[in-house]
Amino acid sequence: MKLSVIGCGYLGAVHASAMVELGHDVVGIDVDADKIAQLAQGRPPFFEPGLSEILTSATATGRLRFSTDIADAAGAQVHFIGVGTPQKPGSHAADLTYVDAAITELLPYLAEGDLVVGKSTVPVGTASRLADLITDSGSGASLVWNPEFLREGFAVQDTISPDRLVYGVAPGEAGERSVTLLNEVYASAIAAETPLVVTDYATAELVKVAANAFLATKISFINAMAEIAEVTGADVTQLADAIGFDARIGRRFLNAGVGFGGGCLPKDIRAFTARAEELGRGESVAFLKEVDQINLRRRSHVVDLATAALGERLHDGKVAVLGLSFKPHSDDVRDSPALDVAVQLHGLGADVVASDPKSVENAQAKHPQLRYSHVIAETLQDADLVVLVTEWPEFVNIDPVWAATLVKTPTIIDGRNALDAAAWRAAGWTYTGMGRP
Ligand code: UGA
Repeated sequence: MKLSVIGCGYLGAVHASAMVELGHDVVGIDVDADKIAQLAQGRPPFFEPGLSEILTSATATGRLRFSTDIADAAGAQVHFIGVGTPQKPGSHAADLTYVDAAITELLPYLAEGDLVVGKSTVPVGTASRLADLITDSGSGASLVWNPEFLREGFAVQDTISPDRLVYGVAPGEAGERSVTLLNEVYASAIAAETPLVVTDYATAELVKVAANAFLATKISFINAMAEIAEVTGADVTQLADAIGFDARIGRRFLNAGVGFGGGCLPKDIRAFTARAEELGRGESVAFLKEVDQINLRRRSHVVDLATAALGERLHDGKVAVLGLSFKPHSDDVRDSPALDVAVQLHGLGADVVASDPKSVENAQAKHPQLRYSHVIAETLQDADLVVLVTEWPEFVNIDPVWAATLVKTPTIIDGRNALDAAAWRAAGWTYTGMGRP
């Protein structure tokens, strides 16, 4: 089937390539000419495991094209909208400028029977407004809201084999036609009996923000337990294991540490709160403000631990920061707790040298005031303090005996509870975890 994918960021670039992998003919469209030029040459504009491979093979089939001109969407039967919905400057609400622009600019190129498929994360109520715009244009196209649940670092796998599909459709026959068409697009997932929930627009929009709100709450819950563990001497990692054995709770997303970041969880819980307030139901999700506060406190906690460990050396001591991306296997530094900690320590006067396997360049572009290194040994050399803030395997697998020979003072703060505390202590390190002795 002929598809267009409008917006070629983390979501759209992966989606466009994956749809070719599934046998479709795709045009990817984005306003960013540099990004489009790179994609057209088969080069991903960001790091995502497996993307380079599927982009190369998709480009080789001749069934994947990229363009900056939305007119090139004409002729496609299904149009995916995967543009960003960032946090509005000076507000917690989502900025819908890009979604609105994508739909408005697409309208003249829609034909009778076309399907517009919204994948961006939007405040509840957006889809029905956009559906009206499409209907009023007289194009005869219809809208489905089909939220995306991919995780960065696993985006290719999550797109090709999603764990569930959610279609928010218009009522009646138009909705039924949309389901048939979208099932053709996702034929392999449907054949694999992937759970499918067909619902209305509002539910589909809410499913997405509810899922991210739940995950954020789970992380902040365990971080709140870490705060209690810190004043009682308890071990939050054992607590997480023990409660995680209860299948109703589950162990995943119960890793206490420096907290969540990235382009989704933080801004999505804020946008959800803002939208609920607009709807007169602010109290229903008021707990998400607490979730946000607990999360931000974890960053300050790491900075406080570092400040205490450095003492008088805060103003001239060298701090080796291991990690910049918001999680491993990604080069994304948006709202990254790791980068935030590095910036805060630098702001306090420490001589910060930060390292990351994939995101040094992205961090440097945002915060040129920090010192960076691609080499772990160089980062650790003569450090007065080491702070691990992103649990990349490269950092987790550092030999503590070797690392102790490089640093000036063997003191480490494990902001992700990712290291073997006993092994590090045995190698002479003063080890501090997050809510564990
Ligand atoms: C998140 C959701 O997991 C996806 O399902 C969703 O599709 C995506 O947002 C989105 O809305 O696009 P992602 O932002 O890639 O995916 O990252 P996560 O794997 O959810 O991790 C988010 C943050 O939580 C990271 O900073 C991670 O380090 C942190 N985290 C995760 C913890 O601090 N503890 C945990 O136990 C798990």
